[in-house]
This record gives sequence, structure tokens and C-alpha cells, in this order.
Amino acid sequence: MNDASARRVLVTRRTFDEVLAGLRLRFDVDDNQGDQPLTPDELAARAAPCEGIVAAVADAVTPALLDACPRLRVVANCAVGTNNVDIPACTARGVMVTNTPGVLDDTTADHAWALMFAAARRVVSADRWLRDGHWRAWGFMDWHGVDVHHATLGIVGMGRIGRAIARRAAGFDMRVIYHNRKPLPDDQALACGAGYAGLDELLSSADFVVVSVPYGPATHHLIGARELALLKPSAVFVNIARGGVVDDAALVEVLQEGRIAAAGIDVFENEPKLHPGFPALDNAVLTPHIASASRATRLGMAELAARNLVAALEGARPPSLVNPEVLSRAG
Ligand code: DGY
Repeated sequence: MNDASARRVLVTRRTFDEVLAGLRLRFDVDDNQGDQPLTPDELAARAAPCEGIVAAVADAVTPALLDACPRLRVVANCAVGTNNVDIPACTARGVMVTNTPGVLDDTTADHAWALMFAAARRVVSADRWLRDGHWRAWGFMDWHGVDVHHATLGIVGMGRIGRAIARRAAGFDMRVIYHNRKPLPDDQALACGAGYAGLDELLSSADFVVVSVPYGPATHHLIGARELALLKPSAVFVNIARGGVVDDAALVEVLQEGRIAAAGIDVFENEPKLHPGFPALDNAVLTPHIASASRATRLGMAELAARNLVAALEGARPPSLVNPEVLSRAG
């Protein structure tokens, strides 16, 4: 659409052509199909004339950005996590914030399991060792890992993704314990076969610990040096939540000293920068924040973000509105 009166929206990162085409039927779309991450200044300049932004996890939606965007009515985050968005600042300015819950639960849970297996069975370091030409003879005592089956899985954060991780454990005859702000209703706990535990109890008794909580002030360094010290020496630790939930420096130290068996990490403090200790660790499997990155799921996320944007700008309630109080404020 090239109508000068059309409402302008910004899609901050590369997305699916069909999703952009749908948005172009309604709006004047500024896209970033070149996918160069925008600096805060570039983001502010591009967003300034816009009524809507489809944002990505690395876009910081700050009061300064909002002040630069007087026409803005919606930030459609293309992620379930919203820690990159200052929600109170949006609400105070009457800006709707939406996210993409539900569509990524199973894919993210699958990746948690991929990391559990890869870390437990040393898949990545064995692959590297093999490619590097070290394999001279088969060895009965080589490459011992940790069994997944019949182990105890501890899940910290039992939202939709945590529960999807738990449900998969039945296939491996695992015992599942979880820690959450509030215990689950009985029917939900039963459906995923999980029993409630205090955080310290979970950390000290689980064989696999998977962290799956939203990031915010209450969960900053939820897992720090004290908590990591509670893990069993044979434990496998997995973070698919957000960098910042885990104290990376403390985790690196625990792995360097071999105080746990292994870790699988998808999210990092200050990503895309890594703590300098991570790359040398042979007992850690590292992935670049890709837990939701199947094609089908990323398309589902992009479509949901677009539906949220369209609804917000066309006067309907967005399907996944994070700050509904903004509606009463407007009314
Ligand atoms: C999310 O949705 O919050 C993921 O971390 C990004 O895919």
C-alpha cells in the first residue's frame, strides 16, 4: 500500500513474506527484510511515524523509544516473553502490548528435551571429536553419559511450556517435580504427572533441572551460585527461559569445575554476547536462543503477532493483549 493516508507500521526484523503481504493490504509497512538489527536510535527513527510496531526479543521498548513515537498504539511483540518491553510505560501512554503465547509451547518444549539429551549423552562434543579425526578404536569405557530414562526431572516454572516439557517425561518413565510461584491446580498437576517441590528441594534432588520462568525483577538470578551449589554432581542443567534468570558467571564456574555433569543453554545474559567462559566448555551444549525456531512455529508466531497488530489498530481486542488495563484507561 502506498497511500499517504495509510497508517504506518514497522516490522523490526525479517519475517515471512506472506505475513508482510497480509500487513501491506492494510498498512503502510516499513520492513527490515535485510535483517540488520536496529540500534536504539535507528529503531526510534523508524518507529517515530508508526502506529504499530511488530517487535522482536532484542528490541528494547523503553520510555525513550515510546516518547519518540507519539502516534504509537500497539507493540506486537513477536515472542511470548515481554521482558524487552517496558509494559508500565506502554500502559501509561495508552499503548497496547501483545505477545505470542501458546503457539510455541510444544516447539520450545521439544528444544528443552533436545538440550537435555544432547548434554546428557554428550552428543555435540562426541560429534566434534569424531569430525576432528580422533576416533582410532571403539572404546567400552569411552563417552559415558547420564541416563535420561527413569531419572527425576525438576522443572522450575510450570507455565504452558513447563507443562509441555513435563508431559514428554512420561515416555521416559521419569519422575517429575516442579517449582512454581503457586502450585498447579490438582487436575493440571495430574495431567503432567508432576509433584510440587520447594526450589531448594527440587535443585538438590532432581537429575535434570530445566528452567522455564519468565524474566523480570523477581526472577533475576533466580539461579545463582547458591542455587547451583545445591545441584547433584551428576545433574544436567538446562536454561530455555531467558538470560538473566541464571547467573551465567556462576554457571560457567560450576561447569569449569565439573561440579555438575553438563548443561544445555539456549539463552544468555547479554546475548548475543556470551560469557567468555562458555565456548571452551566441553560439558555444555549451547544454542543461540532458538527454542521456538521451527519453521511452523515461527510462522505461527509471526501470524499471531500480525493478528494482534491488526486487531489493535482496527478497534478490536487483540487476541493476546498483555496489558488489558490499557483498554479501561482508554475508555
Ligand atoms: C519467546 O517467544 O519469548 C522466545 O524466547 C523467542 O522466540
